[in-house]
Amino acid sequence: MKAQEILNGMTLKEKIYQLQQVTTLTFSTTDSRLDIITGPNSTLALDKDYIYETGTALNLIGAEIMMDVQANYLKNSKQKLPLIFMQDVIHGHRTLYPINLGVAASFDRELAHDLAAMAAKEASLDGVSVAFAPMVDLVRDPRWGRVMESSGEDPYLNGEMAAATVKGFQGDMGKYNVAACVKHYAAYGGAEAGRDYNTVDMSERTLRQYYLPPYKAAVDAGVKMVMTAFNIVDGVPAVGNKWLVKDILRDEWGFDGVVISDYSAFEEMINHGTCENKKECAYRAMEATADIEMMSSCYASHLEELVREGKITEEQIDNAVYRILKLKEDLGVFDSPYRSVDPDEAKRVQVCPEHRALARYGAENSAVLLKNNGILPLDKNVKSVALIGPNANTGEIHGSWFCGGKASETITVLEGFKNIIGDRVKYAKGCNIEYNSTDESMIDEAVKLASECEAVVLCLGEHQEYSGEGNCRSNIEIPEVQYKLLERVLEVNKNVAVALFAGRPLAMSRLDEMAPAILDMWMPGTEGGNACANLIFGNAVPSGKITMTFPRALGQVPIYYNHYNTGRPKAEEDDFNRVRFTSSYLDIANSPLYPFGYGLSYTTFDYSDYKLSANTLKRGEKLTASVKVKNTGSYKGKEAVQLYIRDVFGSVSRPMKELKGFEKIELDIGEEKAVEFTITEEMLKFWTREMKFEAEKGKFEVFIGKDSTCKPFAEFELVD
Ligand code: BGC
Repeated sequence: MKAQEILNGMTLKEKIYQLQQVTTLTFSTTDSRLDIITGPNSTLALDKDYIYETGTALNLIGAEIMMDVQANYLKNSKQKLPLIFMQDVIHGHRTLYPINLGVAASFDRELAHDLAAMAAKEASLDGVSVAFAPMVDLVRDPRWGRVMESSGEDPYLNGEMAAATVKGFQGDMGKYNVAACVKHYAAYGGAEAGRDYNTVDMSERTLRQYYLPPYKAAVDAGVKMVMTAFNIVDGVPAVGNKWLVKDILRDEWGFDGVVISDYSAFEEMINHGTCENKKECAYRAMEATADIEMMSSCYASHLEELVREGKITEEQIDNAVYRILKLKEDLGVFDSPYRSVDPDEAKRVQVCPEHRALARYGAENSAVLLKNNGILPLDKNVKSVALIGPNANTGEIHGSWFCGGKASETITVLEGFKNIIGDRVKYAKGCNIEYNSTDESMIDEAVKLASECEAVVLCLGEHQEYSGEGNCRSNIEIPEVQYKLLERVLEVNKNVAVALFAGRPLAMSRLDEMAPAILDMWMPGTEGGNACANLIFGNAVPSGKITMTFPRALGQVPIYYNHYNTGRPKAEEDDFNRVRFTSSYLDIANSPLYPFGYGLSYTTFDYSDYKLSANTLKRGEKLTASVKVKNTGSYKGKEAVQLYIRDVFGSVSRPMKELKGFEKIELDIGEEKAVEFTITEEMLKFWTREMKFEAEKGKFEVFIGKDSTCKPFAEFELVD
């Protein structure tokens, strides 16, 4: 049956219940844990005669549960329109790959695509139809716990990763694909002070220029669903923000898919102080064209009344229901309610060796070598390595938002090392991971071990649950006890590398000063330990580059590369000098510790032969910018070559530079490749003084390089 036909046969109340989302376990015959807390009998106060007409369910893990729930649901439902199951498949389903901030650091679109496709396959075998991903919130504040889910601070890169991920999840919407749901629309990453759920307040120009493009890229890539954010945008909560959802997302961008709220965000409009009661929440959300209400029940409780009062039309409700039914139709559940669920196949496929291999490859390509005085890679013939630190012997490095992933299936760094150097690795914990731990009692043992071994690898950083939703930090340094451990180890052994595990950029000037080498593994997923070991021993060569600026100190935050010049810029050569009355600090440089796009390798790359095909660009035509990149070191390696453009003068101030292209290339020792970028008028468009999205005539600078500190090598003029 087709969506429209089904819709024609539904009563108003049945339609309204299609808009409701509850947890999967609400319908379980074997497990009703959540039913007691959030189910129909408690806070949601749903009509028990209609609960089996609910349209969608969230948070599903496991094929058997899905089959039980769907069967029970269809048995009890009057309309028998199958449920669809939605799940937070953030960085993998059962096989976890690195957190998304890590995947972005790979600068590898194909990798982002393939990892999402793998997650989709595992999830679909468990009966999941929709992944609540990609999360594409642009972010400039590492205190925010959810930076781990994001691609970082750049609109273009976030958009590229968003599109690749959407395509990976959705493919051709075949058996092993799931619908993607881009989130959190919009600007959730702009939370003030990096505190989750906090106020977001920015100009429309900033919103459109920096924050909206990644969501738009997902829409352009065909994403089936959009999730609204918890926050206010210009004073109005996103889910009830007609301007944001109806006017921009639907009317300007042409999105005709499903819009879902975030968890209980309808009702939170009361806390925001923009709605007095649930009825008003329902009105505002419907006015904004939000379709699915996740885990509150304003629609179910009040839409009928609003229709009776003439405040909401049945047509508005029909439109929302149609979009949901259309999604069900596209997913094929009317013909095949169990879709691709398959418990046996799930067991074979999930965390299978091929998926582990891809996750490992992902982790190796996401890791960023931040510093290396030459001690890395370690020689595999090393006599002994002291592996020390709170992140060395734990599976809890796969990252927050782990869906069905398990720490028990995650390769620890110690296991990874054993896989390469056997019992020549010796382990001591050194200290605990808690951010407030002051216990130094384990340090002596670790120092003794360090003094007995040829080399030391210290696994420092954060616990995986120090980032993720609701996990924000006011201090983003490693704890004092970890510095103490490093300091004491360095007293007895200088051959020390730090493997850092963190869900965010850390403020790490002090660590950078102390540690001879630092490899940032982020939170690397199920195969994290093997990936780390491969990188440390040179079986894999680091090629990741950071997509969020690392500050020297938290006081510099927000710090990002694509900033404006200001009227009193401080000259770069004066960065470390005090120049009063320039835009600067008394006590710290303006520059970050590590800039956007930065990352080292075990090999070296030389850039030469920078060329721009012409010095004028006529509207509608193209230019080519190119460079030759040569591997001049002694390892085969990969390099993310980056193109930046600066619009020198505009009707409004323009960023110092903006990433406009990147290409990840692989080069053998001594090999040279030409990398070419096309420059078009489209790439030069921005929100002008009149708030038109246009490219203005005038001068542009072109930069190609290894990171965002590269210098311009040519200029061109945009002419009519
Ligand atoms: C998060 C979303 C997530 C949803 C469902 C919310 O708390 O903000 O990102 O998709 O829960 O689990």
